[in-house]
Amino acid sequence: MILVTGGTGYIGSHTCIELSRAGFEVVVLDSLANSSSDVVGRLEQLTGKPTVFYEGDVRDEALLAKIFAEREVTGVIHFAGLKSLSDSLRDPLAYYSSNVAGTVAVLKAMQVAGCRTFIFSSSATVYGAFQAMPVNEDSVCAPITAYGRTKFHVEQMLSDLQASDPAWGIVSLRYFNPVGAHESGLIGERPLGTPANLVPYLAQVAAGERSALKIYGRDYETRDGTGVRDYVHVVDLAKGHVAALQHLARSRGHLVVNLGTGRGTSVLEMVNAFERASNKKIACEFTDRRSGDVDVCVADVSRARDLLGWSAEHDVDRMCIDAWRWQSMIDA
Ligand code: NAD
Ligand code: UFG
Repeated sequence: MILVTGGTGYIGSHTCIELSRAGFEVVVLDSLANSSSDVVGRLEQLTGKPTVFYEGDVRDEALLAKIFAEREVTGVIHFAGLKSLSDSLRDPLAYYSSNVAGTVAVLKAMQVAGCRTFIFSSSATVYGAFQAMPVNEDSVCAPITAYGRTKFHVEQMLSDLQASDPAWGIVSLRYFNPVGAHESGLIGERPLGTPANLVPYLAQVAAGERSALKIYGRDYETRDGTGVRDYVHVVDLAKGHVAALQHLARSRGHLVVNLGTGRGTSVLEMVNAFERASNKKIACEFTDRRSGDVDVCVADVSRARDLLGWSAEHDVDRMCIDAWRWQSMIDA
């Protein structure tokens, strides 16, 4: 059985479905700090199986001990944590507590239970600025936010842990820009308040809930002056976790892997793709650059292909079609 922390969240819920499709049994632990208990029922609907769900915090050591005592957990995929770059600068201790101390608590419980298979949700944000693109996993990391540093600290801790006990098999997955939703329209990303990320914002403009997209900067060193990112469909990303788990069935160590498509898309190209998907005109206005943004962030995806046998399948048109379907379902 695979313990999925943060399993009712955006990426975790899609991963639960792909795990189930691949024949894994799943147990979910989530505090519902940034997700809804409705997702549990949706997962049951989509997988056709009951979802074992524990509501609670990953820092609750007694709860972790109870889960490991009650379930035969053979591996953990650890999504639970906080993820806003800007909030992490306002309240770094909340981020270190949830993301670093939370991970320590999970790893300690695993150690006691004798479970040594761990997949960690890391982020392309660990690379920071000034990288040659596409960026590969051996590049020197220099994260520029507290959030990014929590991810990088955990990666380093995982290397130390694995070096202390070679029985550990660990994969840190550095996600690029996860977007889109499940094709059923039953699960997707549900941002609270004003969306900070491009695609949820585009979806709300297309739905008439916001008047215009603010494009942060038009003078970047890119083909049209707007920021370029490596958008990856959340279902492809979910399948990357299954591939990582299958890799850990045959090897130990701590492997760090980029999950992206290897293709860059500018903000304006994404606006066009969303207009095609939604058949709506999206009003845009240019504003100043957002602090902390880089011009280009695109993955070198050769390690994922060579070592995990994983490559992303969906293009940005499909990502926008699925994001728009999800937006239309939540508005219905
Ligand atoms: P999400 O907020 O949708 O999911 C995280 C889930 O964890 C939520 O359901 C939340 O309720 C739960 N949670 C938060 N703190 C918890 C705690 N202390 N104990 C138990 N549950 C807790 O976010 P997501 O987009 O699905 O991201 C999942 C992981 O991937 C996070 O670790 C995030 O940092 C990482 N990541 C996300 C992105 C992205 O753009 N979405 C990019 C790179 C990395
Ligand atoms: N953008 C806009 N207007 C908006 C929102 C975004 O122009 O309203 C632009 C940004 O300037 C950037 C691009 O759209 O050029 C993508 O921005 P996102 O906020 O969607 O994504 P980021 O690349 O800034 O960050 C995301 C996640 C991080 C993660 C990182 C990894 O939010 O958690 O990808 O690359 F770490």
